[in-house]
Amino acid sequence: MNFKKLADKYGTPLYVYDFHHFENQFNELKNAFKGRKSIISYAVKANSNLSVIKKFATLGSGADCVSIGEVKRALMAGVDRYKVIFSGVGKRDDEIEEALKLDILMINVESEAELNRVADIAEKLGVVARISIRVNPNIDPKTHPYISTGLHENKFGVDIDTAKKMYLFAKNNSSLNPVGIHFHIGSQLTELEPIKEASQIVADLVRSLKAINIDIKFFDVGGGLGIKYKDEETIKPYDYAQAILSTLSGLDVTIVCEPGRFLVGNGGWFLTSVLYEKVNGDKRFVIVDGAMNDLIRPSLYNAYHKIEVITDKNGEISKANLVGPICESGDFFAKDIELPSTNHGDLVVIHSAGAYGFTMSSNYNTRPRAAEIAVENGEDRIIRRRETFEDLIACEVDYL
Ligand code: LLP
Repeated sequence: MNFKKLADKYGTPLYVYDFHHFENQFNELKNAFKGRKSIISYAVKANSNLSVIKKFATLGSGADCVSIGEVKRALMAGVDRYKVIFSGVGKRDDEIEEALKLDILMINVESEAELNRVADIAEKLGVVARISIRVNPNIDPKTHPYISTGLHENKFGVDIDTAKKMYLFAKNNSSLNPVGIHFHIGSQLTELEPIKEASQIVADLVRSLKAINIDIKFFDVGGGLGIKYKDEETIKPYDYAQAILSTLSGLDVTIVCEPGRFLVGNGGWFLTSVLYEKVNGDKRFVIVDGAMNDLIRPSLYNAYHKIEVITDKNGEISKANLVGPICESGDFFAKDIELPSTNHGDLVVIHSAGAYGFTMSSNYNTRPRAAEIAVENGEDRIIRRRETFEDLIACEVDYL
């Protein structure tokens, strides 16, 4: 990837995506489930650019969505509606209504109160709602606490007993059709055992539901497959699939898998240019034109992203903080890392930025969001233009 050429052509800050990487990751995971009915349902929240979703749609991907906006993006991008799932711990009535009208594969329900709501809305519309229930298996996924979701202390899903009660309620309600079951224990998972344990617990629940004539068709294992940011040992897709399949003996289910980060994380880079260097006391700072509003993962999770500096300057390497121009001390990409001495305009490449990069960006400090470009078949093209000041104020009224 010629980052310098791309930065010269499109300017910085800039997100660059390698669509071939996306495709390879998708195919590797899909092949891991070969011989079994499976749907890879891309978790749109990781990177919701329409062109990115469209790329996955053309590969046969479904979409895991957590707002009606994401559902609409998925459908606009060409995802088959019977592969679209609407999850999330708090859906508004209007979102449920719209999802039912759009006739997607299923709504993933996360509480008894929500199940009642879905039933009422489906009845009012005169439709039958296909639902799945998110089970919280109370498993520690051994990941960052902010992205752990499968423990009872987390807000997600319902416990096994509540889930059983909900399935019985759904079975006896003519506006509900319980077709699926779901769990998702966390993100950036690098250990297989917690996934296998969770899958076993949920598969056992499917068996006990079968015994009372509730036939689950979709076994949704969530997302969470981790990627290599630094030197993590990651889970191989084949081992992941085998671990899940080993819990499903005797069950005729379609496996649904909702990866986000695994598909796009390492196929994205954030490019930013050096503005200045300065030294405060004995602390060296390299200040760039990108900031925490563009890529918040370091500030929010203290996440590591590999940093590469492209410079002609033949100066010294020394420790520095790589920071953005935002008025917060938390605005940094890396602290105390070895960086070469730089010139104004040198390029800094931040790796592994394809997932939860642009989608978590904001306009804080009235900063226009970065442009996004796709590289495919040796060609680059813009898939989201850089925002302008006019874009930023377009929704504001009553100030004149
Ligand atoms: N399915 C469900 C129900 C989820 O909650 C998530 C992610 C996924 C699938 C996709 O997970 P993945 O395969 O990408 O790990 N902003 C954080 C990550 C938050 C993940 C939230 N849920 C980060 O930057 O690390």
